[in-house]
Amino acid sequence: MTTETPKNITGHAATNWALKHMPLTAQAVAESAPLLDGKSLAMCLHVEPKTAALVALLARAGMRITLTGSPGTTHDDAADALRALGVTVHSKRADSETDHAENIRRVLESDPDLTLDNGADLTTALLADGVSPHYLGGTEETTTGGLRLRAGATQPGKPVVVINDSYLKLLVENEFGVGQSVVQGFMNATNLMVPGMNAAVLGYGPCGKGVADTLARLGARVSVADLDPMRMLQAVMNGHRVGSVTDVLAGAQLVFTATGHEGVLGADELAALADGAVLAGVGHFAWEIDRAALAAMTTGTTEYGDPARRTGYTLTDGREIVILEQGRMINLTAANGNPIQAMDLGLTLQVRSLAAVCAGGLAAGVQAVPTDIEHRIATDLVALLSR
Ligand SMILES: NC(=O)c1ccc[n+]([C@@H]2O[C@H](COP(=O)([O-])OP(=O)(O)OC[C@H]3O[C@@H](n4cnc5c(N)ncnc54)[C@H](O)[C@@H]3O)[C@@H](O)[C@H]2O)c1
Repeated sequence: MTTETPKNITGHAATNWALKHMPLTAQAVAESAPLLDGKSLAMCLHVEPKTAALVALLARAGMRITLTGSPGTTHDDAADALRALGVTVHSKRADSETDHAENIRRVLESDPDLTLDNGADLTTALLADGVSPHYLGGTEETTTGGLRLRAGATQPGKPVVVINDSYLKLLVENEFGVGQSVVQGFMNATNLMVPGMNAAVLGYGPCGKGVADTLARLGARVSVADLDPMRMLQAVMNGHRVGSVTDVLAGAQLVFTATGHEGVLGADELAALADGAVLAGVGHFAWEIDRAALAAMTTGTTEYGDPARRTGYTLTDGREIVILEQGRMINLTAANGNPIQAMDLGLTLQVRSLAAVCAGGLAAGVQAVPTDIEHRIATDLVALLSR
């Protein structure tokens, strides 16, 4: 670690604060600049200060960047600060899903050399349109996006590196970063106490594990459901109660959905929820609650505070359940996203993977982060944390 993190390179205090704590990303951009300089990058990543810090560094290194975010998570002031640096940003906090699709289309008008995606909306649209001859490949941030790309009808003829297919990221960001920030988002959105509460966590992948373990460390009584017996074993050995989804929902006061899969809370599961249960989303898409099943059993809704922040659904049998932020990722909608150091690691994986795509040594297709990149970053992170 020799390069100093550049200071105050944007007119946005929160982005400058993030940048101050992102030495690994700054180092990776400085080292990769000869490969990245002059390239056009189409990006879809939550537009907030850590992303803005990355974009500011890449723009300084000579990249031409066109960016969008995800519905509901854009920080408009961070987006404006990037526009002031000459970055094209098609994203607003108030964007709907329809606006998001249009933003993706406009980002792809930049005819990119590289893509950096989060959830695979951008790459899927690019593949559907047909890639241009100068497209080199890209990265995908999430598990969900990696699954979508691998299952897609059109496979990329270029390398696409799935950042979440990295043990390093799963450990530092998904487990510890998501664990802390989801609980922080839940507390911000509800002002409720966590110690002593009966909490259910659906899915015990790295994200669910981080949330369940963080809740338990704060004194909640945590139950976990997962379809994978190995993860159930891991949960029970970490001291959590385990059961089927309907088992753990019965009696739960707080429910966190961290499976990444669609419709996990269908009619039977919604019927198992206790009166007053509060539901928060962790997985990438707000689709884990089956909206059609919920609508079929809802007789009315109540907004507690800002529209959609805490929506109460009165069900046919008189119970009321509350869904926070429409089931969108609670750490992004009601807190500041993952802690800066966790994102420093994930964004360093992004930069070094994009540089590897530019260097031309990777095979075509959806793939994990190369081991040499992981080992290099792990070594740097150990050195940083043990100072
Ligand atoms: N909120 C954030 O900041 C953030 C950050 C990173 C990832 N994510 C998202 O969180 C989600 C989970 O990520 P992960 O890395 O833990 O994924 P993962 O795939 O490793 O874990 C998901 C777990 O859910 C289980 N599962 C699937 N269907 C289930 C069902 N019907 N009932 C019970 N369990 C079920 C799976 O067996 C698996 O163990 C993904 O959507 C990912 O994109 C969110």
